[in-house]
Amino acid sequence: MGMLDHWQPVLLSRQLRARPVGVTVAGVPVALFRMSNGEPAAVSDVCPHRRLKLSAGEVIGDRLRCRYHGWTFNACGYGESPATPKMTTCTTSYDVREAHGLVWMKPRDCEPEFPDLDMPGYLPICTLEHSVPAPLELTVDNFNEIEHSGTVHDTFGYDLDRLNEVKVRFEATDDSVRVINSGPTKRLNHLFAWLLGIRPGDTFHDDWTTRFSPLYSVFDHWWTSPDGSREAMVRWRLYIFFVPQDEKTTRVFSVTYAKSRYPGPAGGLRLVRWLLRREIAREIQADVSMLYHMADFNTGIEGLKLSRFDKVLGLTRERISRIYRGQPAGRVALA
Ligand code: FES
Ligand SMILES: [Fe+2]
Repeated sequence: MGMLDHWQPVLLSRQLRARPVGVTVAGVPVALFRMSNGEPAAVSDVCPHRRLKLSAGEVIGDRLRCRYHGWTFNACGYGESPATPKMTTCTTSYDVREAHGLVWMKPRDCEPEFPDLDMPGYLPICTLEHSVPAPLELTVDNFNEIEHSGTVHDTFGYDLDRLNEVKVRFEATDDSVRVINSGPTKRLNHLFAWLLGIRPGDTFHDDWTTRFSPLYSVFDHWWTSPDGSREAMVRWRLYIFFVPQDEKTTRVFSVTYAKSRYPGPAGGLRLVRWLLRREIAREIQADVSMLYHMADFNTGIEGLKLSRFDKVLGLTRERISRIYRGQPAGRVALA
């Protein structure tokens, strides 16, 4: 198993229209296009004739036509030359699916599980993409510890002055890592806190599990009174998928759901979906911005002054290496 051998999101559905789109997944260039029935297809983004990007071409019916000399390719990668009719070829094609506002892709010769994102009782809020200027491991590190929430975030996180009170627990299995945190919430925007029914000093709960085929973390966020007897009116579930573009850039796809205890259809969440979407986009952008400021992009953790929040870094690295990258057990890429 290698980095491509998973069902991974590669593009927002709304970005794939009449024109083909080129993406790079773990260093591999892929051309995505929609066939005449609207279904997405994916083939190598390198024309086998003379290596033009097929994503620079155009879609004709169910085929992608290369812009350079007009070879056409179907969803299975079968290509024909217009100038030499008996000349044909076959390029790499991929299995493609569309779900949760995303186009997903995997190689044809593997059968990984498709991640289960169905959330009965929750309302879909938004599907977003962020491009992170950092390698995969450093991006995962950022989303997998909450020590930075005191300084970096506005909504989801802990009061910086009381960060020492935050409880952190880890539960690791062979193929998952769970982190369970609770502690005094940040001081939130008054309107937002009032809308959600959060009071100063309430406890913020942040409980997530990371899985490695594909590589994603599922976060549950909610607030309670300090004694746990009262819960705020809204809770969130976020799926964050990490997809390496290349060694320096990681694409982060997020699918967000929320659940409200207010009366009425969907607990009134449809009315404030725009506000929740803005909040999620801003919080993820805050993470992205921080990664712009890394002094270097070495992914090794040896020699770092790791805190009680950072045990997760070693746990996720081992599983990224073994499960996501498919490297032999015991060999963790430290640099
Ligand atoms: S390079 Fe694509 S048709 Fe020639
Ligand atoms: Fe963060």
